[in-house]
Amino acid sequence: MYGPMKKVLAVVGTRPDAIKMAPVILELKAQADLTTVVIASGQHREMLQQVFHAFGVAADRNFDVMKDGQTLAYLTASILDALDQAIAEEIPDMVVAQGDTTTTFVAGLAAFYRRMPFAHVEAGLRTETVESPFPEELNRRIVGQIAALHFAPTQNAADNLLKEGACPESVFVTGNTSIDAILQATGGGDGQTPFSSERIILVTTHRRENWGEPQREICRGIKRILDAFPDVRVILPMHRNPVVREMLQDELGKDGRVALIEPPEYWEFASLMKRAHLILTDSGGVQEEAPALGKPVLVLRNETERPEGIEAGNAKLVGTDEDAIFAAASLLLSDEDLYCKIAQSRNPYGDGLAAKRIVAQIRRYLELPFDDEAPFK
Ligand code: UD1
Ligand code: UDP
Repeated sequence: MYGPMKKVLAVVGTRPDAIKMAPVILELKAQADLTTVVIASGQHREMLQQVFHAFGVAADRNFDVMKDGQTLAYLTASILDALDQAIAEEIPDMVVAQGDTTTTFVAGLAAFYRRMPFAHVEAGLRTETVESPFPEELNRRIVGQIAALHFAPTQNAADNLLKEGACPESVFVTGNTSIDAILQATGGGDGQTPFSSERIILVTTHRRENWGEPQREICRGIKRILDAFPDVRVILPMHRNPVVREMLQDELGKDGRVALIEPPEYWEFASLMKRAHLILTDSGGVQEEAPALGKPVLVLRNETERPEGIEAGNAKLVGTDEDAIFAAASLLLSDEDLYCKIAQSRNPYGDGLAAKRIVAQIRRYLELPFDDEAPFK
C-alpha cells in the first residue's frame, strides 16, 4: 500500500521571489509523485503576474494583499494570517520559499508556527549589519534559524550558515536559481531598445534604504555621465512603487537621453540586459544576472550580500555618491581594455542546474527516491 502523495507548498510574493522560484516550481511540478501547491501572497500584483505569465506558472491561491503605501507590519500580519489558514487546510509536508522578502520571512514563520519543515532557497546571504539591506537582512537571518534545508547559492553563503551553527547536513551548495532562469531567458536574440546605435546604460533602483536623497544622488550621477559621454543613453525600467517613480520622473522625466519605461516582462528585461553596455543597479537579482551575461555592473549600494561578483571582478560596489558613480562609470566607458577584462570574468553565481539540485534534496528529505546531484562549484 502506498501512502498519500507528498505535498510541497511553494510560497512567492514579489517579482524576484517569482523569478527565482519559477525554475524550482517547474521542476517540482515535473515530479509525478509530488503535489506542488503554489501560493502567491500578493505582496506584488502586476509585477508578479508578469513573471507568472513569462514562465507559465499559476498560483493555486492568491491572497492579493497588495495596496499602495503598504507597511511592513501590514504585509507581515495579513500574509501570516492567510498563510497560516492555507497551511492548516493544505497540510503540506514542506513549505518552500526563496530569499529575503517579507513574504519569505512570513512563510518561514508560518511554517514554524505549524511545525512544518521549511526549505530556504537562496540561503546564507549576509551583510555585516542587520540594518542593511532593510528589512531583508533580518528576514533572511530569521529564516536561517527556522529552515530544515538551506539551499545556499555559493560556497561563501554556505560558509556563512555553517559559521552561524547550521547543521552541515542541512546545507547544500546549489547555485542560484536566478541563473537557471536567465540562461533560459537569454537563448533568444538581442533586445529591442528605444535607442539604436548608442551605448546603453541600463539602470534599476528601488531599495528602501535608497529612497529619497540617495536616489536623487544616483540621478545626478546619471546626468553627469550623460553630459560627459554624448553617445550614451540610459534606459531605466521604473519599479511600480509610487515613492520611487515620482522621484525618478521628477529628476529624469524631462531628459530626452533617458527612457523611463514601465517594468518590462522578464524575457524583455533579460534582452535589455544583454543589449546594455553597462548596468547600474541596487537590485539583488540583477547583480547576479549581469555577470552571467558578461555585463559589468556598478552596484548602487553601500554594502552587498553578494561579494562573489566583486571578487570575480564583474561588479564594483559604488554606493550612491554622485562622484563615485560618475568616476566608476567614466572609467568603464573610456577604458576598453578594462571593460573587456571585466566582461570576460567568470560568472560566480550558478550554472543553470540549481533547481535540479534543490528538488533532488527536497525529495531526499521527503524520503522519495532522488538523484544525487553534484554541488555547484
Ligand atoms: C519588495 C521587497 C524587496 C524586493 C522588491 C523587489 C520586502 C520588504 N521588500 O520591495 O526585498 O527587492 O520587492 O521588487 O519584501 N507595487 C505595485 N505593483 C506591483 C508591485 C508593487 O503597484 O506589482 C507598488 C505598490 O504601491 C506597493 C509598493 O510598490 O505598495 C511597494 O511594494 P513592496 O513589496 O512593499 O516593496 P518593494 O519596494 O517592492
Ligand atoms: N526584472 C524584470 N523587469 C524589470 C526589472 C527587473 O523582470 O523591469 C527582473 C530582473 O531580471 C531580476 C529581478 O527582476 O531577475 C530583480 O527584481 P528586483 O530588482 O525587483 O528585486 P531584487 O532582486 O532587488 O530583490
